[in-house]
Amino acid sequence: MKILLLGQHGQVSRELQWLLESRHELIVLGREQLDLADIDNLREAVRRLQPELIINAAAHTAVDAAESEPEAAFAINAVAPGVLAEEAAALEAPLIHYSTDYVFDGSKASAYIEEDAPNPLSVYGRSKLAGEQAIATVGGKHLILRTSWVYSLHGRNFLLTMQRLLQEREQLSVVADQVGAPTWAGSIAAATVQLIEHWQQQQTAAWGIYHFSARGETSWFGFAEAIAAQLQAQGKTVAQLKPIATTEYPTPARRPLNSRLDCSRLERDWGVRLPDWHDGLLECLNTPR
Ligand SMILES: NC(=O)c1ccc[n+]([C@@H]2O[C@H](COP(=O)([O-])OP(=O)(O)OC[C@H]3O[C@@H](n4cnc5c(N)ncnc54)[C@H](OP(=O)(O)O)[C@@H]3O)[C@@H](O)[C@H]2O)c1
Repeated sequence: MKILLLGQHGQVSRELQWLLESRHELIVLGREQLDLADIDNLREAVRRLQPELIINAAAHTAVDAAESEPEAAFAINAVAPGVLAEEAAALEAPLIHYSTDYVFDGSKASAYIEEDAPNPLSVYGRSKLAGEQAIATVGGKHLILRTSWVYSLHGRNFLLTMQRLLQEREQLSVVADQVGAPTWAGSIAAATVQLIEHWQQQQTAAWGIYHFSARGETSWFGFAEAIAAQLQAQGKTVAQLKPIATTEYPTPARRPLNSRLDCSRLERDWGVRLPDWHDGLLECLNTPR
């Protein structure tokens, strides 16, 4: 199958390339070849390449920077996905797009389901929600996969930052009152491949929006403890971890305290579920690539 993958060096994109390139005709376009803010070029590229499936793994993911550059965030996270959805629909090709737990305000006491009303606290969250709505409005075949707390062995993420700081510092304060599921980009890619295979076999699919994060839950502090334990198992000396409240670690963008996503709809409709977050961490650390 001819697949167009947008985003070349991103965490999820890299893992998708690893899994898809031997099985499909995969065309990968990074920012160097195609700036998603350039709508005319984006349309032209899709029309010229005529993919059978589009996967959008590109996004403006700098959550704090987005507060001071909302135009860029909306161009990439909201306008471009809408254009991709239009072009995909014209080709009758499905569009797989990733979104985020940050569309919610985190005030719910339990895990969020797809029907819960979004209420983003940040520019990033608002721009991603607008992207979801633009895709849904077009109404073509689409999967919007909301994931959370993505990390891998590449790029900028909590795992790599913690691995560095835990070995540099003697004490490290980490937010303990935001709860969610750290999700390895490799788990996201593997589950995406399962969705593609399911669709190819069935030739029918339950398109729409799905929660798509690792199972289980922890806090950023709990995630840091798990990362520290892995370093210690390798004989490394690590910083002493101190739990703090979000209010003690102010950031330009507000983040939800509850980021938990209930992923049972994905399992019910597609038979796909992501691994537990802790198993995902171990798999990530044992899969250097
Ligand atoms: N990271 C998280 O914690 C998280 C949490 C929830 C949901 N998500 C969602 O999951 C998806 C994948 O995230 P990720 O962590 O893999 O992201 P990532 O590592 O930040 O990668 C994003 C990619 O998008 C590309 N990009 C940014 N602006 C672009 C533009 N104008 N034109 C073309 N490409 C552009 C970047 O290119 P450059 O390399 O050139 O900058 C980068 O390769 C995104 O939809 C994100 O919103 C992420």
